[in-house]
Amino acid sequence: MKEIEVVDDFEADFANLARLAAAGSIEDMRLYLAKLVRKYRAGRPQFSSKLDQLLKTSQIRASGPSVMRRAPATSEAVTLLPQDQDSRQSLVRVFDDRDGLAAPILPAALAKQIDDIVSERKERAKLAAHGIRPTRSAILVGPPGVGKTLSARYIATQINKPLWVLDLTTVMSSLLGKTGNNLRLVFESAKQNEAVLLLDEVDSIAKRRSDDSDVGELKRLVTAILQEVDNWPDSGLLLAATNHPELIDPALWRRFDAILRFDVSDREGVALAIGRFLDRDAQQFGPWINLMASSLMGQSLSDVERAILTMRRNALIHQIPPARLAVDLAIRHAGELDKNARRDLAISLAKEGAMSHNQISELTGVARDTLRKYAGPSPLKGRGHKKE
Ligand SMILES: Nc1ncnc2c1ncn2[C@@H]1O[C@H](COP(=O)(O)OP(=O)(O)OP(=O)(O)O)[C@@H](O)[C@H]1O
Ligand SMILES: [Mg+2]
Repeated sequence: MKEIEVVDDFEADFANLARLAAAGSIEDMRLYLAKLVRKYRAGRPQFSSKLDQLLKTSQIRASGPSVMRRAPATSEAVTLLPQDQDSRQSLVRVFDDRDGLAAPILPAALAKQIDDIVSERKERAKLAAHGIRPTRSAILVGPPGVGKTLSARYIATQINKPLWVLDLTTVMSSLLGKTGNNLRLVFESAKQNEAVLLLDEVDSIAKRRSDDSDVGELKRLVTAILQEVDNWPDSGLLLAATNHPELIDPALWRRFDAILRFDVSDREGVALAIGRFLDRDAQQFGPWINLMASSLMGQSLSDVERAILTMRRNALIHQIPPARLAVDLAIRHAGELDKNARRDLAISLAKEGAMSHNQISELTGVARDTLRKYAGPSPLKGRGHKKE
């Protein structure tokens, strides 16, 4: 490479990088840098290897657009993510958790549905030999924070793919005319890459349809999605998630091969999740996990996670004893629980002996007789928490 050509090239490359930086498109910058590593490998080996090192040591973590993590910077097989033609922004978020993601905590029946989808993928050839198609699409339904996105990520890791997430709320907020093109682009690209594609907040189309003046355009959009779902190949997996199944167009609903229904966890699930979220503090909080589970019944595991992290911070920074934190948690949440859960909580509190039966009864409305029956006589006559 002649020196003058190299300088020209550097200028052009620099300008391209600046353009990508200005568009805020980190994954594009990384892809471009990976290209430069190859381009300059022969002519400028030191520069090329420096760039290569840089790329490798600054891998993007799970929630980032991390295609580069799987495809080494120097590999030719770099996946090109679909982008908005004008802004050059990536239209999908990528989760790549293939270096390890614990299975979500779910009721056995739902976990089995998920395992079946995964097994069908793995046995695709066997199914095909009998003329049977695997489950190609599934809709994940349930309230916020119960593990829908997490399960989609888990499914993707199990079939050794990154997860592409297309957030329909974001796409819908752009110009409608463009939405159609962008949608087609994402579907095309997902099909080519045999990706696991998650249409997040798929109900946002319906919401827009009911309160938007541009009804014709939206109808076309729904039709486009319906066609895409129909034409989705066996080689990819199409997932959709929603908190509002009632808003989904019945025609769209019908097209999904499987329906995965999520809900808040039962007590056992909450206790399991608490153990997981406590992580290295599990031993310290061990005796209180049951009480904590009783207090947090009915909450999403996302809320449970937040509560547990707050407790761990308080235990560490303010040196508050776990017993005290657990009892405070119970006091805060007693009012939100239904009758059965309140009774559970009252009995747990009584068994822990952290408060007198009188106090527990006041807090939970559960009769002292009930407490005595299930937890034995009150250990405390006085007030306040038991001493550590
Ligand atoms: N079933 C679960 N098992 C383990 N962790 C969970 C589960 N559900 C929620 N969590 C925790 O809460 C976080 C948020 O959950 P997630 O994003 O999957 O919720 P979601 O159902 O997709 O909610 P939304 O409808 O708001 O998108 C997870 O990353 C995880 O840490
Ligand atoms: Mg989600």
